[in-house]
Amino acid sequence: MKKITRRALAALCIAAWAGAATAAAPIPELVKKDGRHALMVDGAPYLLLGVQAHNSSNYPDALKQVWAAVKDVHANTLEIPVAWEQVEPEEGKFDFSYVDTLLKQARENKVRVVLLWFATWKNTNPNYAPEWVKFNNQRFPRMVGKDGKSIYCMSPFGEETLKADKKAFTALMKHLKAVDEEQRTVIMVQVQNEVGTIGAVRDFGAKAEAAFHQAVPPAVLAHKKSPVPGAASGTWTEVYGPYAEEYFHAWAIASYIEEVAKAGRAVYNLPMYVNSALRDPLALMAPWQNNFISGGPAFDVIDIYKAAAPHIDLAAPDIYMSESNKFSANLELFQRPDNALLVPEMGNAKPFARYVYQVLGRGALGIAPFGVDYFDYTNFPLGSKDTDKSMAEPFGKVYAAFRPMERQWAKWAFEGRTYGVAEGDDRKSQTVNMKNWKATVSFREWQLGDRSWKPDMKDYPAGTETPSGGVAIAQIGDNEFIIVGQHARVKIEGTGNNEGKPSLWARVEEGRFDANGKWIMERNWNGDQTDYGLNLTDRVTILKARLGTY
Ligand code: DGJ
Repeated sequence: MKKITRRALAALCIAAWAGAATAAAPIPELVKKDGRHALMVDGAPYLLLGVQAHNSSNYPDALKQVWAAVKDVHANTLEIPVAWEQVEPEEGKFDFSYVDTLLKQARENKVRVVLLWFATWKNTNPNYAPEWVKFNNQRFPRMVGKDGKSIYCMSPFGEETLKADKKAFTALMKHLKAVDEEQRTVIMVQVQNEVGTIGAVRDFGAKAEAAFHQAVPPAVLAHKKSPVPGAASGTWTEVYGPYAEEYFHAWAIASYIEEVAKAGRAVYNLPMYVNSALRDPLALMAPWQNNFISGGPAFDVIDIYKAAAPHIDLAAPDIYMSESNKFSANLELFQRPDNALLVPEMGNAKPFARYVYQVLGRGALGIAPFGVDYFDYTNFPLGSKDTDKSMAEPFGKVYAAFRPMERQWAKWAFEGRTYGVAEGDDRKSQTVNMKNWKATVSFREWQLGDRSWKPDMKDYPAGTETPSGGVAIAQIGDNEFIIVGQHARVKIEGTGNNEGKPSLWARVEEGRFDANGKWIMERNWNGDQTDYGLNLTDRVTILKARLGTY
């Protein structure tokens, strides 16, 4: 056997160290196992504790107002636009200086970035396309309405538009690969923003008309069943009857996005997603009647997006519906074995903060309230009236609890160990079925005793005037749980193998995770602190609790 000399060993070590220092971190990717999903960043599941900046904060001089809010919210990820109009103001002349400044500052702030490609469609309109695109209808056609008149929205059949958007997006991805491949500051890209069309079910231009009378592509047939009886194959109308036009429009837009995403990923293969302006999740299913945005990735056409846009990893709900039943319904509809849950936008008003527990407990990739920077622009009535620290605070205190355990939480979620609830508008208690244990989460209780002791009592704990409770639980062992929450009471009893067995708390440690993810116990709860359930107050509390049976 060849003997390794000391000098050779030293040389090997130096080479190995140098290699490690310069090797790029693995590229972020979305992985799937047993119907669950994880966003892998640096090779491990990542919990996206995000905020989304306002629409016009995507300029170097504006970023100061953004980082301050990112910091106050304790976010680990910033979602922020990169607009076609700013990177290609003149055709063929690219300027990525904003992207460079953004990445430099993101690294300094130790924050990851999700870039939002505002291009052919931003909230359905072409406002973020460069002037040379949005005012040249000849070359970049708009959609045509049923009456033959041009309408505001870009046609998904505009070949030149697609070519130009694709070219600009590819240039962006090429630039990202060049400047960020080693650091992986950018972890995901949103392609377009809230696409679809308001006020028209589809494009009636010549190209669209011709395509509408063609047979439905086999991939769409394979993914999307008709809600009403129809032919197994044939034209859109033959297969989908009264739903044909909106499904066709979804297919047309998704196919366009697919081309853009595919070209970008061929250059730099980051995860990509689309976001959805939601339709009412509780309304009875019926064909489009000018009552929602046609063609966007609404819940009922996710299948069409899956068929037409395989380079898009997921369709994500932007949830501005503050009602708890609608919020929950949207989560149900968008979290599927073939569609990872990500809430890339939600209202930034205080009542939305409790939904963070529900969303992260469900095993989502992440969440981000919208409009989180310190510009003097409120998002009321969809979001907060405040534009200062008081807007950031309700989210900041929840994120601060999750941050030190963000990687563990993402791993537990991927393993299917996490659960979450947000207090409903009905204020009723909720149950969470875990492995051999069931948690009951109730709200508006005082910490000592039960409300039933004093049926006439009118007093409620401060801060619970409106629904504000939330709890997320990770079952980290057979009988052990990490419980994080606010304004809630948690009780756990046996089910399954533990059904009928008397149980009691072995330990209920209040504490925190340190920066290395190590549990630091601060005190052990017992007596009044456990006799009436585990009572979480306005102060976001983390418990590491273990039960025993006897
Ligand atoms: C949803 C859009 O996706 C955002 O860009 C922004 O316009 C918000 N609506 C405003 O509430």
